[in-house]
Amino acid sequence: MTETNISNKGSYWGYAPAPESADHFKLKEQYGLFIGGKFVPAGSGKRFATINPANEKALAQIADAGEKDVDRAVKAARTAYEKVWRKMSGRERGKYLYRIARIIQERARELAVVESMDGGKPIRESRDVDIPLAAAHFFYHAGWADKLGYAFPGKTASPIGVAGQIIPWNFPLLMVAWKVAPALACGNTVVLKPAETTPLTALLFGEICQEAGLPDGVFNCITGAGSTGAALVKHPGLDKVAFTGSTDVGKAIQKSLAGRSTKLTLELGGKAANIIFEDAAIDQAVEGIINGIFFNQGHVCCAGSRLLVQESVEQEVVEKLKARMEHLIVGDPLDKNTDIGAINSKAQCERIRDYLKVGQDEGAELFQTKCPVPEKGYWVRPSFFTKVAQSHRIVQEEIFGPVLAIQSFRTLDEALEKANNTPYGLSGGVWTDKGAKIFKVTRGIKAGVIWANTFNKFDPSSPFGGYKESGYGREGGRHGLRPYVELS
Ligand code: NAI
Ligand code: MG
Repeated sequence: MTETNISNKGSYWGYAPAPESADHFKLKEQYGLFIGGKFVPAGSGKRFATINPANEKALAQIADAGEKDVDRAVKAARTAYEKVWRKMSGRERGKYLYRIARIIQERARELAVVESMDGGKPIRESRDVDIPLAAAHFFYHAGWADKLGYAFPGKTASPIGVAGQIIPWNFPLLMVAWKVAPALACGNTVVLKPAETTPLTALLFGEICQEAGLPDGVFNCITGAGSTGAALVKHPGLDKVAFTGSTDVGKAIQKSLAGRSTKLTLELGGKAANIIFEDAAIDQAVEGIINGIFFNQGHVCCAGSRLLVQESVEQEVVEKLKARMEHLIVGDPLDKNTDIGAINSKAQCERIRDYLKVGQDEGAELFQTKCPVPEKGYWVRPSFFTKVAQSHRIVQEEIFGPVLAIQSFRTLDEALEKANNTPYGLSGGVWTDKGAKIFKVTRGIKAGVIWANTFNKFDPSSPFGGYKESGYGREGGRHGLRPYVELS
């Protein structure tokens, strides 16, 4: 097989278009706020459009929630908490979570397509990763609802109250599941604010709650931009705030909550190192690098955005990486053959392009693939930098795009020192044939999750979260229940 006949740009043939159809469901022209079990307009009547970043077309009009709407939603959540949800047995709560999980499975095809249209991620990922994992999180936490006594032996676990949850745009429905499933399983009620560029699946989740017969007000969803999020955090009726997003906003939230008893968990950015030793299975490692940084356009807080490769195999790895990258298909997120979809928003696309310029100005060498990209929409070709120094901004700062920074190392200690030399500590990766090296690296890197001979694998039973500026608190597993209970 020659190089070109499996590529999208090949001189022999490329893949024929294979788009997933979007005619098996119909989006509404406009969506209200989901408060007290009903969709209602924003008090101000204001709306904004959510667009498809692959073609810049508006998908639907979304209600823009102001302070009064936030107040309505928090009150609805409080009433549901006091009157219904906190009093319900864990066994009964669990039944609702199982129902939600099953409806997510039933509507999986619709949810996957909407996720790809609203956010730009390839259908292969939304279909095979985001939506099944979202359902899995509800199944997993449904199981915990009546077993909290086993999660915290010798203690009594009670709910804490109303949780305000703010989520980003990189895994819209999956983040709903990560936040909402443990909160509800533990007996809390929720006011959720999805990201302004990807509100649709969170709103469809409101419909799913209706279908599941979830008592009114247990889950509420308010849409809007940063000001809506800030109004939610400021509301005195919250017992808990959970946030995933940028480090800057995380810090602002921390300040806004200072002096209040409201509990807080933060999941912020990352700058993970993927460490390749000379004894690694190089071809698998190259696949792992690709998956680590190009998965979801690099819009992943735990992305393997730095590659640390042992000097003796550096050239081989870089050559193989280049060859593999040239086969990546960038384009229509709904096409089943697409590897890299659209960048989520114009703003994010500009941020990534700025970093491409910053890297070159700092003296690093940029490689980008030659694949074609559509004219409309927001796209960045798979890219990497070589000749980078530890002090470069492209090594220290989160780019959140398909851009890898490559460095080399000679010894394990040097690899660890470089891996830890950033303000973040969310994840990491190690590729080697030697178990002892895996243990040394996993103990030596200060990060919440470290993958060995694989990357970007998630499971509801495995806790996820960071150190340093990557935030605090864990989501998933038994550890992820802890922020949602009071122990006595
Ligand atoms: P962001 O932090 O502004 O957005 C995340 C969520 O926070 C959205 O729902 C947004 O509406 C809300 N928000 C914004 N300002 C707020 C405020 N003052 N109070 C309360 N909520 C607020 O992130 P943005 O601007 O979309 O992305 C910027 C960078 O942040 C990215 O380039 C990436 O480096 C990082 N990021 C990290 C994520 C992660 O998963 N850790 C997710 C999204 C972004
Ligand atoms: Mg959108």
